[in-house]
Amino acid sequence: MLFESAPAKINLGLHIIRRRADGYHDLSTVFHPIGWADRITVSPAGNISMTCTDATLSCGKDNLVIRAARLLQKVAGIDQGALFHLEKKIPRGAGLGGGSSDAAAALRMLSNHWKSDDATIALKSLALKIGSDVPFFLHGQTAYAEGRGERLTPMADYAFPFSLAVVVPPVHISTAWAFQQVIVSGMNPPNLIEVVRSNDLDRWRCELVNDFEKPVFSQWPIIQEVKSSLLRSGAGFASLTGSGAGVYGIFESKEDAVVAAEEAAAKGYATWHQAAIDT
Ligand code: C5P
Repeated sequence: MLFESAPAKINLGLHIIRRRADGYHDLSTVFHPIGWADRITVSPAGNISMTCTDATLSCGKDNLVIRAARLLQKVAGIDQGALFHLEKKIPRGAGLGGGSSDAAAALRMLSNHWKSDDATIALKSLALKIGSDVPFFLHGQTAYAEGRGERLTPMADYAFPFSLAVVVPPVHISTAWAFQQVIVSGMNPPNLIEVVRSNDLDRWRCELVNDFEKPVFSQWPIIQEVKSSLLRSGAGFASLTGSGAGVYGIFESKEDAVVAAEEAAAKGYATWHQAAIDT
């Protein structure tokens, strides 16, 4: 039996650059993995199937784990199956990339288990067939992303010195809907790698923008209120992640991050907090 952790991500800045002929959008963002994670196990089986701790999640062919496994099985010409068990911790429809991360974990585990070299080489293109941010999760290290999100510049040596609180109010946002709402400004985005690397929260507040905030906040003021309350609790920077509904706050004080997460949890929101890693 193989075991993997499938971490969530947050977006540090997110600009929609242009609408493409294929219906997708080119974007510019920094993906940053966080400790909130699903757990996946896989064991040998005749067919591809899965079970999940979340009874509301489909375990059928529309689940990204099943789609990823079937795609790899087909491309690599494998006649074995796999039985997955998914312990779901990351909220869905939150902009945290949980489903994409699960799919990437499935690809990693099966390519290892099935020891298919050809398939390993093609893993990134298979990942992109499953979803735009699945290629990022194959490696899961902080990265600057362009294109649909698959053109990755790793920021492997980037150290994130802050504590974090993530709050997900009970709103489900369709990513496709959110992309349709954004009015593409046509302006050049800032150099996100440079802004993020500065770790200067005053700069982040001025220069790190998520283009989804405007339409999402105007449709669901409750999400804007989550951001405001993280800032009131002492966050030096707060932002929607992806197309939401998750919002994160970045704190210089780990105590403030805990209090902010606890306040949101008391309102019944899903929350996560992590203390800065001491370096
Ligand atoms: O790639 P993924 O399946 O995660 O995307 C979901 C939807 O979000 C797409 O069908 C598309 O409408 C939109 N999208 C986009 N541009 C991207 C990524 C996603 O327009 N770069």
